[in-house]
Amino acid sequence: MRSDRRGKPLVVEAPAKLNLFLEVLGRRADGYHDLETVMAAINLRDTLTFRPAPAGVLRFTQRLALSTAQLGPAPPVGDGNLVLRAARLLAAATSTAAGAEIELIKRIPWQAGLGGGSSDAATTLLALNQLWGLRLPLSDLHTIAAQLGSDLNFFIARTTAAVCRDRGESVQPRALRRRLDFVLAQPVGGLATADVFRRWSRSDAPQTADAWLNWLADGTNRRAAPPPYNALLAPARELHPGVAETCRRLVAAGAVRVGMTGSGSVCFGMCRSRRHALAVAGRIRRGACTTWVTQTGT
Ligand code: C5P
Repeated sequence: MRSDRRGKPLVVEAPAKLNLFLEVLGRRADGYHDLETVMAAINLRDTLTFRPAPAGVLRFTQRLALSTAQLGPAPPVGDGNLVLRAARLLAAATSTAAGAEIELIKRIPWQAGLGGGSSDAATTLLALNQLWGLRLPLSDLHTIAAQLGSDLNFFIARTTAAVCRDRGESVQPRALRRRLDFVLAQPVGGLATADVFRRWSRSDAPQTADAWLNWLADGTNRRAAPPPYNALLAPARELHPGVAETCRRLVAAGAVRVGMTGSGSVCFGMCRSRRHALAVAGRIRRGACTTWVTQTGT
C-alpha cells in the first residue's frame, strides 16, 4: 500500500485471481457449495484510492477502464456495491464513525470469474483498517470478509497462491516459486456466478487438487503443469456458447494449458514465457473476444 501517513490518500492495487483447479464437492444446507480450489493472484489490477472524509460520510466513485459494449452493464455504484458494503460492515463491526472517499479504477473485467469485485472489497477492508487506524488483526478482517463473499479471504491473505476450501473462505497460502505467464480471453458478455452454480451437477468421479499442490510444492516447473480443471466449465458452456469457442481459440493460438477461471466467462491459456504469451495473444486478438497478457503476482 502506498502512502500510509494518516490524512493522506492511500492508493492500493487490487489484483485479480485465476482458479487453476476448481472442484465442487457438493451443495450445502445454506445454498452455497463446498469447494476445493487452487487460486493464483495475477497482475491484472484495479486501483483504489482512499481519502479521509467527515464522520459518517462514505462516498464511492468508479471509473471504467474497460468497454461496457464488450462486457455488459458495469457493477452498481450504489448500496449494492461490494466496496461500499465492505466499508459499512467494517465501520459497524468496529463502531467507528470515521468517513472515507473511495475511488475505484476498474481494469478487471466483471462477471468474468477473476474475483475483481471480491478483490476490491478485500482491499477496502485492508485499506480502511489502516486509514481509520483501527488496528484490527488479520483474523478479524477474515471474519468480516467471509460475510461479504467466498473469494474475499484469498485476497485478504495477500498470497500469490493458495488452496481454498469450504465455501472458498478457508485459505491455506502456498508458495509459487516461479512466475507464470498467461493469456486471458473473454468472449462478449459475462456470466453470473449464482446462475452457473445453479446448473452444476455432481460428477461421478470428483477430482482432488493433489496434482496441483504437488506441482506447487515441487517447484512449479511449467513443462510439468497439470491440466487445469474446473467443475463449473460444463454449466458455464451451457449458459454461454462463447466459453467453449474462447477455449478453442486459446488452444489453436498455441497456449500450453487452457482452462476457465471461477464461474467464467474468462478463459486462460498458460504460456511458456511472457514472449510466448504476447505471441499467443497476438494470434487471437482479431477474434470475437478481449485478451490480456498477465503474470502471477499480488
Ligand atoms: O460468495 P459470492 O457472493 O461471491 O457468491 C455468489 C453466488 O455464487 C452465491 O450467491 C451462490 O449462489 C454461489 N456460490 C455457491 N457456492 C460457493 C460460492 C458461490 O453456491 N462456494
